[in-house]
Amino acid sequence: MKSMLANLSFIIFCFVVVVITHQTPWPVALLLFSLSSFLAFSLNYWLVPGGFAWRNHHDNQNPSKFRGPIGWPILGTLPQMGSLAHRKLASMAASLGATKLMAFSLGSTRVIISSHPDTAREILCGSSFADRPIKESARLLMFERAIGFAPSGDYWRHLRRIAANHMFSPKKISALEPLRQRLANEMLAEVREEMKERRVVVLRRMLQRGSLGNVLESVFGSGVYIEREELGFMVKEGFDLIAKFNLDDYFPLRFLDFHGVKRRCCKLASKVNSVVGQIVRERKGAGDSRSGSDFLSALLSLPEEDQLNESDMVALLWEMIFRGTDTVALLLEWIMARMVLHPEIQAKAQQELDTCIGSQLRAVQDSDIPNLPYLQAIVKEVLRLHPPGPLLSWARLAIHDVHVDKTLIPAGTTAMVNMWAITHDPSIWRDPWAFNPDRFIEEDVLIMGSDLRLAPFGAGRRVCPGKALGLATVHLWLARLLHEYEWLPAKPVDLSECLSLSLEMKRPLECHVVQRRSKAMP
Ligand code: HEM
Repeated sequence: MKSMLANLSFIIFCFVVVVITHQTPWPVALLLFSLSSFLAFSLNYWLVPGGFAWRNHHDNQNPSKFRGPIGWPILGTLPQMGSLAHRKLASMAASLGATKLMAFSLGSTRVIISSHPDTAREILCGSSFADRPIKESARLLMFERAIGFAPSGDYWRHLRRIAANHMFSPKKISALEPLRQRLANEMLAEVREEMKERRVVVLRRMLQRGSLGNVLESVFGSGVYIEREELGFMVKEGFDLIAKFNLDDYFPLRFLDFHGVKRRCCKLASKVNSVVGQIVRERKGAGDSRSGSDFLSALLSLPEEDQLNESDMVALLWEMIFRGTDTVALLLEWIMARMVLHPEIQAKAQQELDTCIGSQLRAVQDSDIPNLPYLQAIVKEVLRLHPPGPLLSWARLAIHDVHVDKTLIPAGTTAMVNMWAITHDPSIWRDPWAFNPDRFIEEDVLIMGSDLRLAPFGAGRRVCPGKALGLATVHLWLARLLHEYEWLPAKPVDLSECLSLSLEMKRPLECHVVQRRSKAMP
């Protein structure tokens, strides 16, 4: 590769020499000669495997180890990072023989990406990639003081412990079942209404509303009806801002504000502080101590030494709402799209539900889920084919120099795992493009982070803390939707993807439903 670059530089150099020696006045010739020498020298220096940002890291410590696209001068691989970045990075890694580790540049940011379970484990499960690179928008939206972007240290550990005990513990999750059931009932009723009135059901809006309601009530309890709509808009605006491409995340241009992202972030942050801060202050003022089973009540009644100050509390609550809403809704939309597209698999799942519930006219419950292995296999198969975070959403940052796949990775390098590439690799999965939940009946693959062939929630110390709550919601709502109705396409199902912060269906799923059970029992 290096010799190819040297040749390229030499060719440019020769070409310019030939051009300028033909009847060019000598001062112009001298200028062109100097410029071409400079260009050739710069190209040779910049155009290295991995691109511009890796220019100082090709030395004897990493002899011929790095593979990666050279990318554009200055920009690196930024132009390829669009709405299908996971696919483009996967095909680049495959074509360069760099699935284990590929280096590339996003502007001046050094990045490595793993598309293989072995190196994914090295990145996710070791202690070297314990931080996350923070985007300017995430910092302005206060996420640096919440779990996702807090540097790994005492504060981050403290937040994770509080969340594990008071939001995500098995006891908390099961205490929230009545809420999930109520929201499922509301969704089923809405489906019935839409079908009656419009003859077509667009699930996306309902799932987003249900998901938002679920997370808001878990966090604040049942008294936030007025703020619900406003918080919904705030989550949407936050997603839009974090997903937005912002030049100053990749170049030292902090003083500029391209596309007004900073201005919008500051406006949103002050709104979050006012709306969420107001809820916190009201509850504090009312002397809330353990008045409810919600997360805010738990935060307010922490022992003195564990208490968070008000702004940290706002950041943590805002993060829960932000992270908890979108992933669950879009995963369920992908699952339902697959159910509509594969009626025989849908029928098999319904058969399993009928056998499990029997002739009782009751709704599916959390306690039925362990007896529904095929339903769980469907969820796994959708997480494999359409992982909501194909690049595991939020990358990691090397906190010191470290070796990955025996290659020295300097401190400050951003590391990503292309989970989508791993879950579509034919050397890991038989017939990877086929939708076949039975593969998980034949082999039980754990998806919580111990098996890096399928780790949609990440792995290691920064693994998703909301995974059990997210899965409990997805399993129950899927079971309720399939038990109640048969789902048919209203339009041909379009599986096109769009990657912003998460991987969504590009166009909303539209379906018809047919009631399956004669009496709908809540
Ligand atoms: C289907 C649902 C979900 C999926 C697929 C998902 C996926 C992920 C992934 C891939 C990560 C990065 C993990 C890593 O770096 O190794 C993550 C982190 C995180 N998730 Fe989730 N998530 C889901 C649901 C939730 C829910 C319901 C919440 C909260 C209510 C949540 C809160 C978080 C937080 C706070 C982090 C940052 C953890 C840290 O940096 O220490 N997630 N999630």
